[in-house]
Amino acid sequence: MEPQQENEVARPPERRFFIHTFGCQMNEADSARMGEILRRLGYLRTEIAEDADLILLNTCAVRDKAEQKVLSALGRYREVKQARGTLLGLAGCVAQVHKDRMLKQVPYLDFVLGPDAVAKLPEVLSKVKESRARVAETAWIDSASYVFPRAEAETARGKVSEFVTVMKGCDNVCSFCVVPHTRGREQSRPVEEVLSEVRMLASVGVREVTLIGQNVNSYRGGVDFADLLRQVCAVDGIWRVRFTTSHPTDLSDRLIDACGELERLMPHFHLPVQSGSDPILAKMRRGYTAAEYLDRLERLRQARPNIAVTTDVIAGFPGETDADFEETMKLVEQARYDNIYGFVYSPRPKTAAALHEQEWGPVPYASKVERVERLQARGREISLEIGQAQVGRKIEVLVEGPSKTDPDKRFGRSPENRVVNFVGTAEAGTLATVEISKAGANALFGNQVS
Ligand code: SAM
Ligand code: SF4
Ligand code: F3S
Repeated sequence: MEPQQENEVARPPERRFFIHTFGCQMNEADSARMGEILRRLGYLRTEIAEDADLILLNTCAVRDKAEQKVLSALGRYREVKQARGTLLGLAGCVAQVHKDRMLKQVPYLDFVLGPDAVAKLPEVLSKVKESRARVAETAWIDSASYVFPRAEAETARGKVSEFVTVMKGCDNVCSFCVVPHTRGREQSRPVEEVLSEVRMLASVGVREVTLIGQNVNSYRGGVDFADLLRQVCAVDGIWRVRFTTSHPTDLSDRLIDACGELERLMPHFHLPVQSGSDPILAKMRRGYTAAEYLDRLERLRQARPNIAVTTDVIAGFPGETDADFEETMKLVEQARYDNIYGFVYSPRPKTAAALHEQEWGPVPYASKVERVERLQARGREISLEIGQAQVGRKIEVLVEGPSKTDPDKRFGRSPENRVVNFVGTAEAGTLATVEISKAGANALFGNQVS
């Protein structure tokens, strides 16, 4: 080997990070920010856990299954740690609610980082490296500065669609839900901060933004959510605006009016109903009856005809009888959702429903599964019927790139957020008109006509 020249600076060895993200869009956005921080610290991203010097699990605690996935992933990464001394960190919602238990149960974990502590990642890493001590950083930030801002537009260059965090936390107390314990009280990002991030994204060619938060329609960052949408829709270069998730009780007339007026706001609304039975909705503490929910939906559809509506439903909530579940099936017929995300009820720590489960009457696991499967089967039939009504129509698709299922085809999304696989040549980031020739429950197929 040649001896090193005197003026040649020895380059530090490359360090690589791997992030495994579970859960919702909030976690995806947080993982993207942690990735940016690590790149600034000189780490390179790897998609292969076995090559990583740092592995971060960004976790979800919403159902027991989600937590089990985290534990089994930790078992896999333990081997990587043993083989190459990789640092292992737990971030996100499991880190927040089970900090002590995880440190005890997983002795090879180096650090724990709550969702509000993303900005503290460099500090935590230095502490772990210097002292080899295990570190836990899970303090909540109860101010608008909770969001670690996107630092560089460059990381979004080449992307067509991006998430923009507008609020965090949740002030509702749905009796089944752990999120208020994992993300804390609601905090909104100031409107100017949101707008400058959207402008930054537009400047590098992003064409669609999805405003995200646990309960976006209770946004209060200087303006209400309807006005935030108006201002985001007015940003030059942004063609399509979406948002998720909304709570039905906060679906104000002002927001419905905005949905009717704003052309760049896409005609898709995710409005979780959870159940169609009034006694169950009351026990869930959702704050609406089935009739009130359907009334809001009707107003929304009057304001924006053909709006696609999707929902979440929990089957087997404590005390749910067959008759209660039939009410949910009835509501599904009336609401005719584009897509239903059905979940088996899972008791969560510190929640009212888990505390009262024995008193209210636990539903046997087999019945929960049978109900959710029936719901999803009917949901798929309705989705297919709605999709088939699109056959023969020409729709505008925002192209995202080659199709994930067939590399000879292109892939994009319709205004209603349906996946469209099509034969054509349109580049990612452009709008193509596609004539729909076939519909599946999860995607539409067609040919580009212009
Ligand atoms: N903020 C949203 C709302 O108000 O509807 C929901 C957020 S939660 C992360 C996503 C979905 O997970 C919920 O709509 C609910 O259907 C489901 N979910 C939450 N807690 C659950 C539990 N304990 N068991 C089963 N599903 C649950
Ligand atoms: Fe959970 Fe309810 Fe808040 Fe949604 S609104 S995050 S379901 S507590
Ligand atoms: Fe899961 Fe936390 Fe999102 S519990 S659904 S990752 S807010």
